[in-house]
Amino acid sequence: MSVAGAHDVVQPASFAFDAANLARAKTIIARYPEGRQASAVLPLLDIAQRQHHNWLPRAAMDYVAGLLDMAPIRVYEVATFYTMFNLAPVGRWFFQICTTTPCWLRGSDEVVAACTRKLGIGIGETTQDGKFTLREVECLGACVNAPVIQVNDDFFEDLDGPATERLIDACAAGQPPAKGSVAGRQTSAPAGGPQVLKAPPARYAWTLETPKPAEPPKPAGA
Ligand code: FES
Repeated sequence: MSVAGAHDVVQPASFAFDAANLARAKTIIARYPEGRQASAVLPLLDIAQRQHHNWLPRAAMDYVAGLLDMAPIRVYEVATFYTMFNLAPVGRWFFQICTTTPCWLRGSDEVVAACTRKLGIGIGETTQDGKFTLREVECLGACVNAPVIQVNDDFFEDLDGPATERLIDACAAGQPPAKGSVAGRQTSAPAGGPQVLKAPPARYAWTLETPKPAEPPKPAGA
């Protein structure tokens, strides 16, 4: 296991966007008025992180600073403020476990325990083979389906200990399950299924059941 902080990471000597990402970056920069290119710093850092195995080396931040004509320290300030930027390597499967109050009330302790027991690492650590990293995070904004883990870009919800272990097994096999509720909940509907709005309101019923009424004729010259 390892616990890497930004200060003890082996940094690459250089970084540059590949051709596809450079084209994407130029398209994003062009959306902003002249003199406001610094506003593109967040999406460009995101592109850089995705290109560099889900973490941002200093060379990537310097590269983005150069593209946007910003002082490097301004880019470091952004990258160190937002927790979605990783300043040290993370595993192939990056587990961000929410332990804020709604998830805690719904069993996030059990989810954390399942992760640490199954992977043999603690929060903030990466497995020896580099496959899994565990991080504890604040509310992920999916409390209605608590408890929740974000794995890379996807949310897995309504977890408990056994479901968390199955999720880890699936990721280890390279076949993560469908994202969303592992209990089969329809988006954020009640666990037993929708209780209201099971059919469209009568005045809109034609949208599903009958052809749309013909539009009235337009006045001449309109
Ligand atoms: S408290 Fe866990 S998603 Fe909001």
